Amino acid sequence: MHNKDKTCWNCPAALLKGNVEFRACGQSVSDIRTKISEEGLLIECARRPELGMFEPSITYDQCPEWRETEYGYLLKDMRIMILGIDGYLGWTLALKLAKLGCKVSGIDNYLRREAVAEKGSKSVVPIADMETRLKTAKEVHGVDINFKEMDLLNRDELSRFLEETKPEAVIHYGEIPSAPYSMVDAEHAIKTQHNNTLGTLGVLFLIKEHCPEASLIKLGTMGEYGTPLTGRPIFEGLFPADAVISWQGQEWSMGGELTPRDPASFYHVSKVQDTFNVYEACKYWWLRSYDIMQGVIFGVHTAEVSAHEDLRTRLDVDEWFGTVINRFVSQAVLGIPLTVYGSGEQIRGYLALEDAMECMARLIASPPEPGQYDVVNQLSQLYKVKELAEIVAKIGSQNHGLTVQIQRVENPRVEADEHPFLVVSKKLREDHGYDPKTPLEVEIDRMFSLLLEPEIRERLESIREAVFPQTWWNGNHKTSMTLEVYEPGTIEIEGYQPTLVTKSETYDTDPGDDT
Ligand SMILES: NC(=O)c1ccc[n+]([C@@H]2O[C@H](COP(=O)([O-])OP(=O)(O)OC[C@H]3O[C@@H](n4cnc5c(N)ncnc54)[C@H](O)[C@@H]3O)[C@@H](O)[C@H]2O)c1
Repeated sequence: MHNKDKTCWNCPAALLKGNVEFRACGQSVSDIRTKISEEGLLIECARRPELGMFEPSITYDQCPEWRETEYGYLLKDMRIMILGIDGYLGWTLALKLAKLGCKVSGIDNYLRREAVAEKGSKSVVPIADMETRLKTAKEVHGVDINFKEMDLLNRDELSRFLEETKPEAVIHYGEIPSAPYSMVDAEHAIKTQHNNTLGTLGVLFLIKEHCPEASLIKLGTMGEYGTPLTGRPIFEGLFPADAVISWQGQEWSMGGELTPRDPASFYHVSKVQDTFNVYEACKYWWLRSYDIMQGVIFGVHTAEVSAHEDLRTRLDVDEWFGTVINRFVSQAVLGIPLTVYGSGEQIRGYLALEDAMECMARLIASPPEPGQYDVVNQLSQLYKVKELAEIVAKIGSQNHGLTVQIQRVENPRVEADEHPFLVVSKKLREDHGYDPKTPLEVEIDRMFSLLLEPEIRERLESIREAVFPQTWWNGNHKTSMTLEVYEPGTIEIEGYQPTLVTKSETYDTDPGDDT
């Protein structure tokens, strides 16, 4: 078990109110570290108060409160709150964690359901209302999920719920997740930043007040980093210890500092601001957080959501909320040539829904240390957009008998069409035992099978118009013009080759511009 040697120091049940007052105003991290090294550190255990004050040295494999699971040692009956539990990822994770024996609570204000309806769209996979979801989860999986309808910006209500549930981990999915939505107009941009940035800021204060030892697992996005044209590495949020900056003949260490961000929409800006707020809260109040820079998720399947049709999670394919692979599969089913923006040379990180859930389970099982702000780049593989179109087209035609074409359309976004991409994603694999399990082709094939079911195909037909890109970063609202339609298999995938660094070993630092 990869986390068996972790100790009470990382455990959210360990109350840091022994001999060191971590959260006393004015104490710097270095003052506290000096005090700990001089006087030692004593803690109390919220789960085993009979132990009194003791050194935080009991390892997970020694402690009866931790038990083995396939994702590492996990705190028994761990209390977990999911903000945004009705969403694509939130609902999927809720079922997974509840099945793992966690006590899951969650909130949602159905903002996503309303925003998709505003676009004139709906989840292509029909999803049950929350009451039915909860009832079915009980019947099918035998689990109880404690849900409250609530806006997380309503701090009084959330405060009461946190006090009642006292979570040991808070999973923060509760944001507006769409770049195009944030670029529609002033109203949508302001709503996105207000909801996301101020929501997260309020959540930080509430965690400090009600459950300061809980780990906050906060969803950022790989889009925070942008696509640096120099080809420099995209580290995991913070510069590694051996990174240096060199200027005018001198060198300085960059180790531990936040890496530059270059967000690609007003939505991504909200995520960058979250990053700074979470970073500061860890510094000021000794909160602990994994800030996850997540790649683009695709797919519909986990064992838990596929167990019953009322447990399925949403799948959107409209131009605001649909993510690229999900949209390509739906376009193939609809007979629309797959819409590749611009050159299609854009490179992004991706992972299947099932793998994303596994990553989350592993991070929840291994909380950061008190005061630790840590960043994890969560992705399985890098692909060019036009490469994805080829893969979707191939599976659609070979496995499902569809005739699929690809079209290049005007790019409504402001982004680098062609760029090197050298991404580091080591922590999940090296520290948390993650190994991607769901091949892209397998999940795409599953999606085709589901979307080709007659009822779902009919739903897809009914939202056909919402699939086309119409939201431009310059404020225009018009359908992107087609630049070229081509048959799959007739183009070369050339240009920059992406590099994904998953292990601490030397790698080819030439990002491979062979254009
Ligand atoms: N899906 C992806 O590909 C992807 C990739 C990278 C990052 N992320 C991030 O992961 C998180 C979850 O993404 P998702 O795809 O599940 O999105 P989602 O929209 O399906 O889920 C978010 C949920 O939060 C709820 N919510 C939003 N604001 C709220 C508020 N103020 N109060 C209460 N509930 C609120 C929404 O109603 C929704 O159910 C988001 O933060 C997103 O930015 C997603």
